[in-house]
Amino acid sequence: MRVIIKKTYEEMSKEAAKIIKELIERKPNCVLGLATGSTPVGLYKELIRMHREEGLDFSQVITFNLDEYYGLAPDHPQSYRYFMEENLFKGINIKKENTHVPDGTVKLEEVEEYCRKYEEMIKQAGGIDIQVLGIGGDGHIAFNEPGSSLASRTRLVALDEQTIKDNSRFFESEEEVPRFALSMGVGTILEAKEIIFLANGKKKAEVVAKAIEGPVTSQITASALQLHPKVTAILDEEAASQLKRISYYKFVEEAEKKIGRRLY
Ligand code: PGA
Repeated sequence: MRVIIKKTYEEMSKEAAKIIKELIERKPNCVLGLATGSTPVGLYKELIRMHREEGLDFSQVITFNLDEYYGLAPDHPQSYRYFMEENLFKGINIKKENTHVPDGTVKLEEVEEYCRKYEEMIKQAGGIDIQVLGIGGDGHIAFNEPGSSLASRTRLVALDEQTIKDNSRFFESEEEVPRFALSMGVGTILEAKEIIFLANGKKKAEVVAKAIEGPVTSQITASALQLHPKVTAILDEEAASQLKRISYYKFVEEAEKKIGRRLY
């Protein structure tokens, strides 16, 4: 895993946006895997700026989101479809039909088939070129809570108590946070060709260290990223503050600068 440590959240967001911009310029019809939450908001702001000021063209870009609360309609202000419209899609020239967020209103008896089709659509689009990920306080990626199989696929999942608490900040009360979600699995995520893993803030420092340097375990599903051949973790200094192999990460970063290409 490449680990890039930036001083601030803004620098972290810009670094991630730069990688995505390069992909879109190289492959205008690329497939992006997108995440919600506070972490990628700065990245999305920067992509909107790049679209407005530098003409970054999203007209052929295809996107797939990681997850959606089960039971929330797309126009619910806390739904992830709504989040994506507000924080990214309405600021860029992406075609609505090219954006995919799981539908949280699908009937229980149709969930399995719906999730199978969601994965099929990703395959049909050619697979995800770059997947953007944040990390939950409990180490989850997407809504793959502790104990999720590292081979899991898109499915209906139950949210962990900590996730419900963490996410209650967006709702009127904890009771209003949905208890279930549709989520890509760890196995689905690991099939992306490349992954950008973002984390910022002191609160994430301990779990980030476990995910990047600890044992691979279904108790911290982000640790499964260690099994992927092309992950770039972009962290701010606070989130990186409990990592132990900092000098190694810096060495790789310097070496890459010198040779003008990435090593991992
Ligand atoms: P956050 O959530 O970006 O709001 O911290 C991350 C997550 O739960 O995956």
